[in-house]
Amino acid sequence: MTQPSVSSRIPLSRPYIDEREEELVLEVLRSGRLSLGPAIDRFEELFAERVGAPYAASLTSGTAALHLLCHTAGFGPGDEVITSPVSFVATANCFIFEGATPVFADVDPATLNLDPAAVEDAITERTKGIVAVDMFGYPCELDALRAIADRHGLTVILDSCEALGARYRGATVGSHGVSASFGFYPNKQMTTGEGGVATTHSEDEWQLLRSLRNQGRSYESRWFHHPRLGFNYRFTDVQAALGIAQLEKLDRILELRGEAAARYGRLLARLDGADAPLADDEDHVRSWFVYVVKLARGIDRDAVLERLADDGVEAGHYVPCVHLQPYMREGYGFAEGLCPVAEDAADRTLALPFYTGIAAEDQERVVEALERAIG
Ligand SMILES: Cc1ncc(COP(=O)(O)O)c(C=O)c1O
Repeated sequence: MTQPSVSSRIPLSRPYIDEREEELVLEVLRSGRLSLGPAIDRFEELFAERVGAPYAASLTSGTAALHLLCHTAGFGPGDEVITSPVSFVATANCFIFEGATPVFADVDPATLNLDPAAVEDAITERTKGIVAVDMFGYPCELDALRAIADRHGLTVILDSCEALGARYRGATVGSHGVSASFGFYPNKQMTTGEGGVATTHSEDEWQLLRSLRNQGRSYESRWFHHPRLGFNYRFTDVQAALGIAQLEKLDRILELRGEAAARYGRLLARLDGADAPLADDEDHVRSWFVYVVKLARGIDRDAVLERLADDGVEAGHYVPCVHLQPYMREGYGFAEGLCPVAEDAADRTLALPFYTGIAAEDQERVVEALERAIG
């Protein structure tokens, strides 16, 4: 088990892998079926079952999952798609790939997820969809967003890349009837090295996703029959083997991450100047992806990050606003002031080292270092 012990440099994240992953990967390597093989089907079945969606299509990344969902939604040139400025760039890129135009609506200051009222205000006659994010594993206001989408005839896509295992209104994220994407980069709750899944509640969309990931190939017909233009977004059986082993221990992973988050919460309670992340409520149960604290106004966040690094604590700037990235400013003319709530949060948030099985002593060291850095 790559169980971390107390270490001199505390990393921001690390995967949680043991002999089971080695065993299943070795089985696949010895089977001779490295792609388009049975491990993929098994992984997809297990994943769909875990999130409560009837269909899951494995893909090369969370970005590929988002891209194909935007493709199947039919977003294209002339369309506007509303999304969150508090996310990873992939959330907006996925429909820009299809020629649609990004429109950023501001977020709720507590959840850092799309504020439904801001989404409603951003709708024009060109709006075709909403790509909502469960940021930092905290479920977004899906019911309110769906109600808006229903009123205006829009498609909702869920970017749940950070939220595997989260629960919204008593049910697992992925089970609510909306197509969703999940990502398995090694900083995520579970990893396959790289990789992702798109879940859907429509058999037709699932068949389309399977075709699109494999160069638009038809599954009914012979090899090399391609009714449509597609991509190569194929997951491998090696990744699927890793994924199966990770799913087997996912409950334990989520439990350990929950315990680590609770420990940070207790340690931070004594510290002035850094607020812990929003607590769960009846309708929102976070799946702990990263542990992001918000610094009080007036504290120089970049200086805090530097001091933490000098103390051997790898913290991260989570996350800069998407609309203020250079290519967004240049391409669309976005500037400061477009989403003030998001911009204020982005100036003050930072992620502390956080991973499955992080040692309690390391968490204490992190909070002591943060106290010094703020002080
Ligand atoms: C919110 C969000 N969306 C999309 C992605 C893209 O996932 P991937 O890196 O697997 O392409 C990530 C992953 O970092 C993410 O955090």
